[in-house]
Amino acid sequence: MKICVPTNMKNIDSYTHVRGESVYLDDIPLLKGTLYAIAFDSPLAHGKIISLDLSEAIAMPGVVRIFTAKDIPGENQIGGIIPDEELLASTHVHFCGMPVALVVAESEEAGRLAVKKININIEPLPVITDPREAQAKGELIVAPRTFQMGDIASAWAQCDQIFEGSTETNGQEHLYIETQGAYAIPMENGAIRIYSSTQGPTAVQRTAASVLHMSMHEIEVDTTRLGGGFGGKEDQASAWAILCALATYHLKKPVKYALHRMEDMRMTGKRHPYSSDFKIGLDKNMKILAYEATFYQNAGAAADLSPAVMERTLFHCTNSYFVPNVKATAYSCRTHLPPNTAFRGFGGPQGMFVIEAAIAKAADALGIPASDIQSANLLRTGDEFPYGQAAESEANECWKKTEELYNINALRREVEDFNNKNKLHKKGLALMPICFGISFTKTRMNQGRSLVHVYTDGSVSVSTGAVEMGQGVNTKILQVVARVFSLDPNRIKIHSTNTYRIANTSPTAASAAADLNGKATEIACLEILNRLKIVAGEELNVPADTIEIKEGKVYTNGQLSILNWDDLVIRTFTRRVSLSEHAHYTPPGIHFDPAKEKGHPFAYHVYGTAIITVTIDCLRGIYEVDSVKVVHDFGTSMNTIVDLGQCEGGIVQGIGWMTMEEIVYDKEGKLRSNALSTYKVPDIYSVPKEITIHALDTKKDNLAVFRSKAVGEPPLMYGIGAYFALRNAVKAFNPTVDLPFDAPMTPEKLLMSLYPPSTKRNKKEQGEFTQAQ
Ligand code: MTE
Ligand code: MOS
Repeated sequence: MKICVPTNMKNIDSYTHVRGESVYLDDIPLLKGTLYAIAFDSPLAHGKIISLDLSEAIAMPGVVRIFTAKDIPGENQIGGIIPDEELLASTHVHFCGMPVALVVAESEEAGRLAVKKININIEPLPVITDPREAQAKGELIVAPRTFQMGDIASAWAQCDQIFEGSTETNGQEHLYIETQGAYAIPMENGAIRIYSSTQGPTAVQRTAASVLHMSMHEIEVDTTRLGGGFGGKEDQASAWAILCALATYHLKKPVKYALHRMEDMRMTGKRHPYSSDFKIGLDKNMKILAYEATFYQNAGAAADLSPAVMERTLFHCTNSYFVPNVKATAYSCRTHLPPNTAFRGFGGPQGMFVIEAAIAKAADALGIPASDIQSANLLRTGDEFPYGQAAESEANECWKKTEELYNINALRREVEDFNNKNKLHKKGLALMPICFGISFTKTRMNQGRSLVHVYTDGSVSVSTGAVEMGQGVNTKILQVVARVFSLDPNRIKIHSTNTYRIANTSPTAASAAADLNGKATEIACLEILNRLKIVAGEELNVPADTIEIKEGKVYTNGQLSILNWDDLVIRTFTRRVSLSEHAHYTPPGIHFDPAKEKGHPFAYHVYGTAIITVTIDCLRGIYEVDSVKVVHDFGTSMNTIVDLGQCEGGIVQGIGWMTMEEIVYDKEGKLRSNALSTYKVPDIYSVPKEITIHALDTKKDNLAVFRSKAVGEPPLMYGIGAYFALRNAVKAFNPTVDLPFDAPMTPEKLLMSLYPPSTKRNKKEQGEFTQAQ
């Protein structure tokens, strides 16, 4: 097939983005009579509702009505995997920020003033915020799961060295630029249209139908694009959409709710914090013979997506290493935090951090660089993952290319020289290999759909189940159409994601949206193309298989014919042949048996290696990431601009999680880091000074769309390397420090680790520091 679409095509949204013309939820023109909804949420993390007094609030000017759990016509239930989460608290509250009532008012201001007048009396119950405490008390969301391979019990005896330890990784606020929100509109015959800033339009539709006791075909969910989702709107967009729909259901009026930043931070879940234990055993040649890990996932107050996130932690617990004997157990622990949810990497990063910590611990003890252990254990093609799938590995290729291309030896020398010459600044370097499985681990979710129309003027419109959230999936789908039809991209439009046009969609998640919906689009276009060729053959009196359509022109046996795309489309229509197609795609060969915890869950894996270098300021504890140098397995990238953007964004987000983003809940389960003044995310000053990404261009077959491997989540995990680079820099300053594996490495923690209370410094050194200050 001739390719006429450049692989460096700009994101098709960039034109409207820079002009401020892109339509997000808050840009939808409001209908006359639109009302505003605002949730009243629980001030306590756990308790029994004794009374709820709405009288003062309802009397406030502009207030139309206040809804509570009693007003729900169907089921008061929004739990996606497990029905354990009420939309509005009925008798008990389970986390600070849990919606209890919904004020609907004529203006946002009136609603917000009224919310403050609601009086709730809650009898407090004990609050758990620590996952280990929850586990000890039997507070589990689902039964624990264990992935096993080999024979761990006898493997320890074969090991020369065994190391054990614990790790903590904190949560992460999604901080999508566009907060959660929805706008519900009454339609005829009691139907409701919901505009929702969601990654999962079908989840919103399905849940709205069951809460309102309606049928799914009466609920239309429409999503043009999101100002970021990052997993935070995979499951957690539903509550706001359904609250609006509930008000519309009763009042027959359009109702909108766009959350304020602090409401969003307080009421929604985040990346799961994990507390974990590890034990790792090595032989003389640095081969990892045995690895055991136990993960305590802080799920928050309800299941949400926690069981699936926990599962991916297990899938990725050995990162890109082959370990013959593995036992990994995970507990999803119920605490009184807002239900934690999907976040780029979906539990994978949390699992990978632990084995990197285990390797770092072993390397420290053995006095060798961690990379000696990392490189000795990289997966080879044919190696088995603990879940039974055999690797088609690019791990060694990526690692070797990284070492060569960026001259790792020279980089190491630079770091050493710098550290020898400088007392008050130290550099640290770490390598971070990644391996990430592509596919929803719930096999049945791996379905994509696409609806393609060719109009009689030759222009093309496409709807798929994919949601555009800045990751460029619409651009990639447009490229698929342009390639198959060999048509000018300007003649193709991708439309909003709409549950009336595309049904039963999986959320746009698991990095798989371009693969699933792009492949479905390819199938639909090929079907239409085939019909066009048959018609062209008949019109030109030649066999259909001699027809080729290239750049808007029709060829027979390589010769330009009298037909062009536009004529052919008209003639096809005139012959009453369909110019539309709805196609379905599901990746072949994937399966998983949860009873055995074995199978072939992933269509393929994405690999890569990064070198991260940092410089720390040993007086102030602050630091900079000097560079992130990557060799990344893109397969054969179909859009280098979009893919590089995904890498850069993912890396910065990963570094943020590992270094500066610190979520703080107090013992009462109240979010202390509840605004951007107290929650620090990477900004333009703190991003790495250099990010270089080299594409490992593999021509190998894979199940990605046009062999262009999924790129949404994997690069985030390079950020883990920043943590270990900082750790190495601290060690360069203070070689004897016993550093706990406790991410994020904030400047405060880093400073404390440079000067732990127990460290005795000699007089001379102290003198030097005093002088320097
Ligand atoms: N990139 C941007 N700009 N905004 C986002 O919200 N979400 C990430 C990733 N990249 C996200 C993003 C997450 S969590 C996923 S799962 C993938 O995009 C989803 O899109 P894809 O399947 O098309 O890669
Ligand atoms: Mo992404 S965490 O799978 O939405």
